[in-house]
Amino acid sequence: MSKIANYNDVSKSYDSAREAAEAHLIKSMMENFTGKTVKEMDIIDIGCGTGNYADYFLQFEPRSLTLMDASEGMLTKAKAKLSCGPPKTVLSFKEVVLPDIPYEDNCFDAAMINLVLHHLEEKPDGKSFPAVAKTLKEAYRILKPGGILTITTITPEQFDAKWFSNLVPENRRRWHKRLPSHAQLKMYLEESGLSLKSAFKSLQASYHTEHGNIEGPLSESWRKGVSFWGTCTDEEIQEMIQDVTQMKNEGTLQKYYETHNKIDIFGALETLAARKEI
Ligand SMILES: C[S@@+](CC[C@H](N)C(=O)[O-])C[C@H]1O[C@@H](n2cnc3c(N)ncnc32)[C@H](O)[C@@H]1O
Repeated sequence: MSKIANYNDVSKSYDSAREAAEAHLIKSMMENFTGKTVKEMDIIDIGCGTGNYADYFLQFEPRSLTLMDASEGMLTKAKAKLSCGPPKTVLSFKEVVLPDIPYEDNCFDAAMINLVLHHLEEKPDGKSFPAVAKTLKEAYRILKPGGILTITTITPEQFDAKWFSNLVPENRRRWHKRLPSHAQLKMYLEESGLSLKSAFKSLQASYHTEHGNIEGPLSESWRKGVSFWGTCTDEEIQEMIQDVTQMKNEGTLQKYYETHNKIDIFGALETLAARKEI
């Protein structure tokens, strides 16, 4: 269960700000690294949210599609979204708190974890991420030999590259303790038994449709679409609103955005694919 955001509440507005970033590339990696088409696969979406990724995959009629999440509100939205999908795909939904993944060994061809791992550690020391490590071990266990796990995540450098992270520097530092680096993820994948096959950076914030809205931080509904703001104190939010309002009035807000937006260099997201070797 995320302590950063109340996802039962967020579920009401999540889809107005979020999209299934790089879903077509995730599909392509799943097919390339398993040698199967999606139509032949049993797929699990771990931390499925409102089902945006599952919804993308459903059009290709996988054999089965399993959605799990800790938030009842997010799962309710996902059920409504997918309920009129192709009748050939067996759909199932489960409310589960990671790192547990309560399914049999060797039962999925592909698993995906999109933008979930940074929600798992509630008291991180910034050095180790035991819940992430356990989640990846569980993912390994439920995959069939030859199966593939894909992960979409945000590394610490990518977090700093978002223009608005700099508006509350103290909160940015807090987040560094929640975000495993590429090297840490690689290590946890290897420890779980999975072999890393591919990793790439997305140079656009395609998961967040309003990323470039420079006045967004002034709006509560915009802030609800980004987990960053969930860990700010009320004082920090008030101070940030004053700063952004001042820049807006002085005509310097666009310049601030351009100076601090570095996602074209560091990426907005990292996507990894790792295989359970036969
Ligand atoms: C940013 S959303 C991502 C949703 C979806 N994967 C997507 O990319 O659209 C994070 C999701 O992780 C779920 N989550 C957070 N902590 C969790 C946990 N410990 N176990 C299971 N799900 C969790 C939240 O409920 C939320 O739906």
